[in-house]
Amino acid sequence: MLPLGNRCFQLLFFRISTFLTLSQKHMDNLLKPPESVCGMRVLDRKLFEKTLEVPVITLKDIKVSAVLPVLKKYLLKVEKLKPIQHVNPEEILIYLSPMLVQQWESIPEDVRQRLHSEHIKDENFKKILYTFKYENFTAEEILRAILPPDKEGLSSFTKVGHIVHLNLREHLLPYKNVIAEILLDKVPGCRTVVNKTNIIDNTYRNFTMDILIGDPDMLTTVKENNCKFKFDFSKVYWNSRLCTEHERIVNKFQEGDVLFDVFAGVGPFAVPAGKKKCTVFANDLNPESFKWLKYNFEANKVDQTYYKLFNRDGHDFIKNDIKLLLPKFLECEKNVYITMNLPAMALEFLNSFVGLFSHEILPEYSKPPLVFVYCFAKGEDCMEITKNKIKDTVAYDLSDKIVDVFRVRTVSSLKEMMRVTVRLDRDILIADRKRKLEDHFNDIQNKKVILDHSDGKEQEKVK
Ligand SMILES: C[S@@+](CC[C@H](N)C(=O)[O-])C[C@H]1O[C@@H](n2cnc3c(N)ncnc32)[C@H](O)[C@@H]1O
Ligand SMILES: *[C@@H]1O[C@H](CO)[C@@H](O)[C@H](O)[C@H]1NC(C)=O
Ligand SMILES: *[C@@H]1O[C@H](CO)[C@@H](O)[C@H](O)[C@H]1NC(C)=O
Ligand SMILES: *[C@@H]1O[C@H](CO)[C@@H](O)[C@H](O)[C@H]1NC(C)=O
Repeated sequence: MLPLGNRCFQLLFFRISTFLTLSQKHMDNLLKPPESVCGMRVLDRKLFEKTLEVPVITLKDIKVSAVLPVLKKYLLKVEKLKPIQHVNPEEILIYLSPMLVQQWESIPEDVRQRLHSEHIKDENFKKILYTFKYENFTAEEILRAILPPDKEGLSSFTKVGHIVHLNLREHLLPYKNVIAEILLDKVPGCRTVVNKTNIIDNTYRNFTMDILIGDPDMLTTVKENNCKFKFDFSKVYWNSRLCTEHERIVNKFQEGDVLFDVFAGVGPFAVPAGKKKCTVFANDLNPESFKWLKYNFEANKVDQTYYKLFNRDGHDFIKNDIKLLLPKFLECEKNVYITMNLPAMALEFLNSFVGLFSHEILPEYSKPPLVFVYCFAKGEDCMEITKNKIKDTVAYDLSDKIVDVFRVRTVSSLKEMMRVTVRLDRDILIADRKRKLEDHFNDIQNKKVILDHSDGKEQEKVK
């Protein structure tokens, strides 16, 4: 089996074995595909055949359970091979690793003595010829054997439903077909292999993809937090690497709580919340996400009384819908959560909460809403960078409103995805926006922070 990542998502990392001595290396290669496959550009499965002498122990009328503890560490571990096989009801074959055992004598003395006491002697030991095939190697072993040893290999890929997607580096392009074919063969449940072609920077956070092999169907279904999500992977945003974060947030919600999801995508926060009988207001600008968001609420049988969906810009959603709905939930002391997962821009949307209400229409409240807002931090000290980003982006001093700054995941070297929890106290929601903005930017100028265009943009929005 391929090494699978944690239970909610499958991600493979290939380890690079280092510090092998030459003889270890030779032994290590024994159970690897033949060296002749190195550089293969068109998959030829036959070339993976390799015949080896494999040590075996035959047991007649001896219980396996008696010897297994002794032999366990010497067993042959290969893809799709059971190291203990029943030849007939009385006779059992135990395959040993040819890397660890060459002769009966290469089994350590004390181990042989223990075998002796179970009536296993050198007569029980023999070597048989065994042919290993393509089926008997893992994707990792096969790719490592094929791809140039001196360059970085295929370091990782993710699986979304039946789709495996890779980000092929330039030097691996000549191998794209062979890589795709191997993954299609080896990754359980994989029907399609795609390559992302551009870094996502469009509004909807989806990316163009090249189908390298398989079914061109981009409609797929994934499971997360006990919900099923169906969507067209080429048209909406989905990232399996966020499943743990989705779970952490969903775990905070309890029946009766209220969730406003400003950038809901196809529903990984919103649908599980609805299923828990939270009252959910979920929004996404992408019509295609909206369509699947609706579909997923229905497919997961969330009662219609618990949710309402919106297809508009996040600022409009905050300034109209949240504005209209929030006061009554504050009044009846609900726990209110607001999720904003659009890390490239979301901090900016905090500004829409500043001075959202006039003092008359906002009731006094004891349970301030909590905003989970995401951002990227590039550089050494991601906590400090995040706090500075908030200062530079948000036109209100949030320093005593930040409940928590949490490192969600590493995107690439020196780029972290961060989650900031902001408490929406009354003073933010009823702030005099114009004055606060001026204070804010004067403050920044005093600190000699250069903020070229954000100044103009902010001013525009306030008017
Ligand atoms: C990074 S995805 C997050 C989706 C989902 N919450 C998740 O965790 O997987 C951001 C979503 O924001 C949507 N989006 C982008 N700009 C938006 C805007 N201005 N207003 C509302 N939604 C927007 C995109 O379509 C996308 O679905
Ligand atoms: C190789 O895999 C096949 C199944 O595809 C299995 O029947 C066979 O025993 C395996 N052989 C070895 C040497 O692992
Ligand atoms: C895969 O994506 C990479 C990076 O975006 C790109 O350079 C490359 O050309 C793509 N490969 C194929 C086969 O489309
Ligand atoms: C993103 O999805 C939209 C529909 O949601 C689609 O029209 C567009 O072509 C997609 N963009 C890319 C870059 O694939």
